[in-house]
Formats: sequence, C-alpha cells, structure tokens
Amino acid sequence: MTGLSYYDRWYNQAPELHKSIGVLLFIATAARLAWLRFAGRPAELAGQPPLERLAARWTHIFLYLLLFGVIVSGYFISTADGRPVEVFGWFAVPAAFSGFEGQEDIAGAVHLILAFTLIALAVIHGAAALKHHLFDRDRTLLRMLGR
Ligand code: HEM
Repeated sequence: MTGLSYYDRWYNQAPELHKSIGVLLFIATAARLAWLRFAGRPAELAGQPPLERLAARWTHIFLYLLLFGVIVSGYFISTADGRPVEVFGWFAVPAAFSGFEGQEDIAGAVHLILAFTLIALAVIHGAAALKHHLFDRDRTLLRMLGR
C-alpha cells in the first residue's frame, strides 16, 4: 500500500480499504471486550503449567493493547490533516486531534512498529496453539475455534 505509485489503480483504493477495515476491527474488538466482561473468560484447561497460563494471559493482554495501539495510531495518521476517516462510505469518524507538530510522521512510525509487533505476536500465538494441538494433544485450538 505504501509503495504504490500515483498511477496505480490501488493508490486510493488500498488505503480506503485498509482504514475502513481497521475501523470495523476497532468496533469488533470493542464488542469482543464488552462480551468478555459480560460472559467472563473461558475456564482454563486443567493441568496447564502455571508458567504457560501466565504466558497465555499476558499474550492476550498484549494482543489487545497492540490492536488498540495500531488502530489509534492509524487514526492519528489519517486525521492529521483534519479530515475524517470514511468507512466504506457508510459513516465517517471525525478528526478529534489534528495539527500536532509532526503528527503524521510520529503516528506513522508508531503504527509501523506496533503493527509488526502485533503481527509477530499473532504468529507466535498461532504457533503456540498448533503446539498444543499437535504435540500436547489438548483442546486449546479447538476451544479457540469455538468447538
Ligand atoms: C489492526 C489494524 C491495522 C494494522 C495491522 C495496520 C497495519 C499497517 C501497516 C503494516 C502499514 C504499513 C506501514 C509502513 O510501511 O509504513 C500501515 C499503514 C497505514 N495505516 Fe494501518 N493498520 C491497521 C489499522 C489502521 C487504521 C484503523 C487506520 C486508520 C484509521 C490505518 C491507517 C494507516 C495509514 C494512513 C497508513 C499509511 C502510513 C504511511 O503512508 O506512512 N491503519 N498499516
């Protein structure tokens, strides 16, 4: 997306899609957290070592923090010039804070670092789930898939 030239047909479309999906993801994450508060966390699997439990707990916390950090920094990049974020033409999220000195660059650097940290953590999270399924042969992955 960031490497597209002005004459590429995705030049406008890709960022629009990226931002719209990102805002919807914010709504989905907020709904997920609200549901978690209402329904509580699923009971932990019996026999899981305490260290693994702790690692899982902190991974989940960091995944949510990173998600919000990436989305909020993306919002700050997009609204640095005072323009709202359009979501698929359905609605617009107004610019709340704009015009800070270097806002676009600072938010852009934060967005990049947090996004790649999030992607790395998501990969580790997926690998850990596969380890549970293939080596420990427990129900962790099935539970993650809602089974
Ligand atoms: C979990 C959600 C998101 C992820 C994983 C993500 C990831 C990324 C990545 C990897 C880049 C490329 C960074 C670079 O190479 O400089 C990027 C760029 C960008 N993102 Fe996001 N993003 C997310 C959400 C959002 C949201 C919600 C918005 C705006 C409302 C947004 C706005 C932007 C903009 C404007 C750029 C271009 C920055 C530039 O040109 O320097 N992103 N995003």
